[in-house]
Formats: sequence, structure tokens, C-alpha cells
Amino acid sequence: MKRVIQSTTIAVDKTFSAALIAWQKKHGRHQLPWQNTRDPYRIWLSEIMLQQTQVTAVIPYYHRFLSRFETVSALAHAPVEDVMAHWSGLGYYTRARNLHRCAQQIMTQHGGVFPSDPEQLVQLPGIGRSTAAAIAAFAFGARAAILDGNVKRVFCRVFGIEGYPGEKRIENMLWERAESLMPTSSIEAYTQGLMDLGATVCVRSRPLCAQCPMQSRCIAAATGRTASLPARKPKKAIPEKSTVMLVALHKGRVLLEQRPAQGIWGGLLSLPELSRVVPLGSDAISRRTMQRALRDFGELDAWELLPAFSHGFTHYKLHIQPVCLHLKKRHALAAQAEFVWLGLQDIANAALPAPVKKLLLNLELG
Ligand code: ADE
Ligand code: SF4
Repeated sequence: MKRVIQSTTIAVDKTFSAALIAWQKKHGRHQLPWQNTRDPYRIWLSEIMLQQTQVTAVIPYYHRFLSRFETVSALAHAPVEDVMAHWSGLGYYTRARNLHRCAQQIMTQHGGVFPSDPEQLVQLPGIGRSTAAAIAAFAFGARAAILDGNVKRVFCRVFGIEGYPGEKRIENMLWERAESLMPTSSIEAYTQGLMDLGATVCVRSRPLCAQCPMQSRCIAAATGRTASLPARKPKKAIPEKSTVMLVALHKGRVLLEQRPAQGIWGGLLSLPELSRVVPLGSDAISRRTMQRALRDFGELDAWELLPAFSHGFTHYKLHIQPVCLHLKKRHALAAQAEFVWLGLQDIANAALPAPVKKLLLNLELG
């Protein structure tokens, strides 16, 4: 039997869920504080705490929280400061604010009773699609698919899914898998099994494939790709910029400009950049442009290109083309306080960006 979901066809495979359920019953976790209950309040609270925090860190908070706020009504009527104080140390505090708002909406919009339909749960603050499914499955036995980070890892490995799971197209593919793999019964053991497998066996690094119920069907294990699946977040291409720096020289002095306090090299002395001293559009490297660039500073004699180089910043790469300009005459600096003529002997001790200092020191030697 095949079921068509959107554009992709995934064969219904009952053996996946059957193997997982059998494994969960024998090797899964059964004594976590939020198990062995059908109380949606307790299950909801655990799922929110577990969204971004490990089980071992959650457990003491979970107990303290429940003894202070015993019911959804108690939580809804408590001051938000009190809720925050009991969350303090768990991190991701938006979760606590949403938790409080969610409790209030349960009271005002749902008569104090958690809805059992994942479509309704997902409307509440702090409850995403996967969390809604987990609550619906654990509290009400609803057949709803979860897909958290651990489950994505298991699916990417078992089915050999290559792309980055944070990408929308891959995530949609994984949701289709999650929907089609669900069993028709024992959704609780199945859902817990997915969580348990991801947390205890199919862990991020060095998964314990020898103990895994999926080993015989796992593409990553069969092809030696457990280390490369799931794919890591692709690195963004680093943007590249370029600039022309003017090395204007006159009688052993070089023209420098103090950079604006904001932006790269803020407040440091540096070489004037062509784009800042000539009008926009006339930045071709030519004698005319160089003369215009120097208009306020002196008269151009000879000029030459120096070897170009690049400098890496955290957010981009800067290509620098230095141009050496020999002046035959130097004008007095006008009221342009940001410019100075610095003696080449003072370069070593000046507050200059490292690549600029290096360029000027090489110049002095050369
Ligand atoms: N992580 C998210 N939900 C969980 C649960 N119910 N048990 C263990 N870990 C989980
Ligand atoms: Fe993960 Fe290994 Fe199991 Fe595959 S066989 S699901 S990689 S633990």
C-alpha cells in the first residue's frame, strides 16, 4: 500500500514503528517524572521545559515548579514574577512567559481544560507543531507526529537524507516521513521511543549502532555516514568588499585619516580611502582621479600601484588595493582635523590597524 502525501510518495512501512515500539517497551525510559500520567498539565509543562533543556537539568525544576503551581489554574493566577523565579536558571525565559500566558488562555478560552486536538494546541503560546503532537499523544493518545531535533537526526540517518534539516525543503520532507511512519496504535510508546532512541542510542556523536533497533535498515550505519548525517548548517558565503587606499607621501611623511568612531577600525588612524575623498563615480584608478583625490592635500608627482592584499574580518573579506602617490608639493591641512601627516619613523608606535601598519612598515624598508 502506498500513500501519496503532497508531491512525494512514501511507502507505508509498519516495520519501522513495530521495531521501535518493541524496543521502547524493553529498552526505553519508563520512569521519567512526567511519564505514567495522563495529566495534560504535567505533560505540557515537561514538554516546554524539555524543548531546550536536557532531561537531567529539567527534573529538579520540574518537581519544584509543580509543588509551587499544582494546577494550570494555580499557574494562570500566579504573578508572572513568581513564575519567572521558578524558571530562573533554566534559560530561554520566553518559554516561561509563554507558559504563563498559555495557562491563562487555557483558563479563559478553554474553560481550564487542555484541548486534545493538536490543531488547537498549536494555537497556544509556546506550543509548536512537534510539542502539540507530543502533548496530544502522551495525554490523549492522539495519533500525531513529532519532529524535534533528535527525531530529525534519527530520520536523516535511517533514511540517508542528505540536506540540512533546518532548511524548509528538507524539514517538509522529514515531516512527511514523520506522518507516514506513525503506527495506528501504541502512539505513546512509539513517540516516547523516538525520543528515547535519539537521546540514548542515536546520539549526535558516536551513536551506539550495535544496540540500535534500526541498525538493519539504517542507511547511515550501512554506508559509514553516521558522522556526516545529519548535514551541518551550511556556512554562509562571506561577503567580499574592496577598497583603494591612498599612500600619499611627501618628504618622509604619509597622509593618514582618523576613522569614524563607528564601524571597522573605529577611531584608529588609517590610510585615506579613495571612495571617501573623491566624488562617487570617479573612482577609476587613473592619474586624473588621483589628482582629484589629492586636491586638498598637495600636487601629484609620480604614482604607482602597490601589491594588492586581503584582510579577513569576522563578517566579510576586504580586498585592499594600495596606491602610492608621491607629492611634489604639500598644502597646509585645512580645518580637516581628521587628517594628519605622520612621519614614517612614527608608524611603528601609531594607533593603526595591523594590516595598514604592516603595509607602511614594508614601505619604509623598501
Ligand atoms: N524530550 C522532549 N520530550 C521528552 C519526553 N517526554 N521524555 C524525554 N525527553 C523528552
Ligand atoms: Fe542511529 Fe546507528 Fe541506529 Fe542508524 S543504526 S539509527 S545511526 S544509532
